[in-house]
Amino acid sequence: MAHSADQAPVPRRFARSGPLTGTIRVPGDKSISHRALMLSALCVGQSRISGLLEGEDVLATAAAMRAMGAQIERGADGIWTVHGVGVGGLMQPAQALDMGNSGTSTRLLMGLVASHPITAMFTGDASLSRRPMARVTDPLGEMGAEFNASPGGTLPLMVRGISPAVPISYRLPVASAQVKSAILLAALNTPGTTTVIEPVATRDHSEKMLKGFGADLTVETDADGVRHIHVTGPCDLTAQDIEVPGDPSSAAFFIVAALIVPGSDLTIENVGMNVTRTGIITVLEQMGGQIERLNARTVGGEPVADLRVRASALSGITVDPAIVPSMVDEFPVFFIAAAMASGTTVTSGLDELRVKESDRLATMARGLEAIGVDVEEREDGLVITGSGGASLRGGGPVATLLDHRIAMSFAVAGLASEQGVNVDDTAPIATSFPDFLNLLDRSTGAA
Ligand code: S3P
Repeated sequence: MAHSADQAPVPRRFARSGPLTGTIRVPGDKSISHRALMLSALCVGQSRISGLLEGEDVLATAAAMRAMGAQIERGADGIWTVHGVGVGGLMQPAQALDMGNSGTSTRLLMGLVASHPITAMFTGDASLSRRPMARVTDPLGEMGAEFNASPGGTLPLMVRGISPAVPISYRLPVASAQVKSAILLAALNTPGTTTVIEPVATRDHSEKMLKGFGADLTVETDADGVRHIHVTGPCDLTAQDIEVPGDPSSAAFFIVAALIVPGSDLTIENVGMNVTRTGIITVLEQMGGQIERLNARTVGGEPVADLRVRASALSGITVDPAIVPSMVDEFPVFFIAAAMASGTTVTSGLDELRVKESDRLATMARGLEAIGVDVEEREDGLVITGSGGASLRGGGPVATLLDHRIAMSFAVAGLASEQGVNVDDTAPIATSFPDFLNLLDRSTGAA
């Protein structure tokens, strides 16, 4: 499989654009797509998935599940069918599992392997090979799995799973849906009750989908608002037909673009509105962004709406750190909105951004400086003084450091710049949003 890291960089200049108009649809949710493939691959029988995100990250998950015995095919109609192996039935992969750029694939699959009697080697690109894995190997080690990581606890990393694994009760030291999910997935093939204690709520797609597939999962919220998630294994999962809603994290680039490019009036259809994901909409509305939710409905068990976004005068705000988990992936593009606002925007509590596909605080600060934005980098956030609606200066080149969301964020910045913005590499965009450039050209009238 070709990964962006293996490809030559694809630089591009994003020029100032006309308004974004019309109606677009963003691709399927990345988090839900990964989970749909993994859980289907653990059923006996055939599941069907429509709206699956066909980005490199999700394809890495599909390849890994195939390597462990599942039959996964894409029909000509775009519907994916999965014949699973059953919980407990994952097979020894013959080769290393290449995770490309995908932290979600890596961490969730480590959970699955941990409670199966198989050994798997996980490898990834340069970005993924710098990311911390101890956050998953610590709890999975308590369950009995063994790990042989590279120095620093990173990939390449060998997982030796165990069956039966030991159920644990684990309080999450970081707010991470990936760590939570790794433990819940390991629990499926672990006899007894495994509990994850989640002091700060993160995206709950794993819990919702596990229940939908018939796992024995319960959630209690204690008097302090702390969630206790219990899975009793071993569970049998029942094959499902799944419809994946559009990804709010992908929609965010178009939401910000439409807010900052004068005259824009853009409708984005079928966007997931799970409250654990919609912090970006809340903060943009607090800044004065006009974002209308139309046609609210349910798709695949998740709330969904069409969003009508109109160009708006934005005002700087201080972002409440409590909202961070519900917009953790949206800060790069949020910083572009802040750069166009009047006044100063202050963010804090963003330590986790330093261990994403790149150190997103440093990468965004350097990129914003390169295009003339007034930015101060702090230990756990950025402080940005915006242009008050005037075009950004632009320039660059901006270094994206194998980070898809950095590339897309500066593409959006270019649309509202005088000189355009040079992005050093757009190839990483294919990890999460392969059609991004076409859609951007189409909605700005450039195509
Ligand atoms: C994800 C969880 C988040 C997010 C990532 C996808 C998931 O990571 O940044 O893009 O699908 O569970 P953390 O849970 O590590 O914050």
